Amino acid sequence: AEPAVTEETTAALAIRRVGVVGCGVMGAGLAEVCARAGRDVLVAASGAEGLARGRDRLERSLAAGVRRGKVTEADRDAALARVSFTTDLAALRDRQLVLEAAPEDEPTKLRLFRALDDIVEDRAAILASNTSALSIMRLARATSRPGQVLGLHFFNPAPVLPLVEVVGSLLTHDRTRRIAAEFAGAVLGKQVVQAADRSGFVVNALLIPYLLAAVRMYESGFAAAEDIDKAMMLGCSHPMGPLALADLIGLDTVAAIGTALYEESKEPTHAVPPLLSRMVDGGLLGRKSGQGFYTY
Ligand code: CAA
Repeated sequence: AEPAVTEETTAALAIRRVGVVGCGVMGAGLAEVCARAGRDVLVAASGAEGLARGRDRLERSLAAGVRRGKVTEADRDAALARVSFTTDLAALRDRQLVLEAAPEDEPTKLRLFRALDDIVEDRAAILASNTSALSIMRLARATSRPGQVLGLHFFNPAPVLPLVEVVGSLLTHDRTRRIAAEFAGAVLGKQVVQAADRSGFVVNALLIPYLLAAVRMYESGFAAAEDIDKAMMLGCSHPMGPLALADLIGLDTVAAIGTALYEESKEPTHAVPPLLSRMVDGGLLGRKSGQGFYTY
């Protein structure tokens, strides 16, 4: 039988104009996912140079999709035509849903949510953060509409990985959470899990201590990077090993998530090992900078 079309499904289908804030790896991925789902996407980022890099990322990802037979050339062209870019955050005023994908830094995200609250005119619009570990409640309280704020957490690479974590704070309206889940599921075609507003949600609360343990193992000279990764790929059938995955996520992001988890839990397994801090300080950020545990 066809699943029942609820009022929330109808509301999710009616979301046609999506804003994306930030145009890094995740911002570009979210823009691609929403454009391919037929939505009009406006991407806002702080600098023209960042936007150009983001556009390039989006084009390269769609080209990879075409090469691998996942996207037709017509769909690629249609998706690209649905995405526009701006350096003016105020251009997001007519958006029905905003996905914030700025760097994992609380002051930055608080400033953005305060600004979005002033800018986005539709009081029914949903303001979502792609944060991995920051408190949704704190972001929500930066606005005058905490009932409309929640976490929608995607995974890298967003066009490929099927999961979205839907994270409501204690103040998120139930209806907002249900519409956002319908948007991720029925509109974007993702699989959804619900998680509470606790640092790391489900995936990163489990993943980050594992990645940090791999860094500690490597730092102590226990095993070579290649052997740590090979062991987990061949011994546990993971698609990539922990150090390669840390490079993919971005070492600055891994460190920021670790720090947020540690702040909340005070668990030693969440503390960032010195080698990771030094690599971040040195600009060795993984794939996006060309050098991390591996060279790209
Ligand atoms: N649209 C749709 N599909 C696309 C695509 C696009 N734009 N670009 C590539 N693909 C498809 C490819 O066709 C391919 O699928 P098939 O194998 O069915 O053909 C698949 O995506 C993989 O593409 P690649 O061949 O380019 O890459 P790969 O096979 O080497 O896999 C990988 C790369 C997907 C990254 C894989 O290694 C993987 O899944 N690694 C684990 C990633 C992971 O764990 N990510 C989560 C990180 S945590 C996070 O993101 C959250 C956080 O908060 C930190």
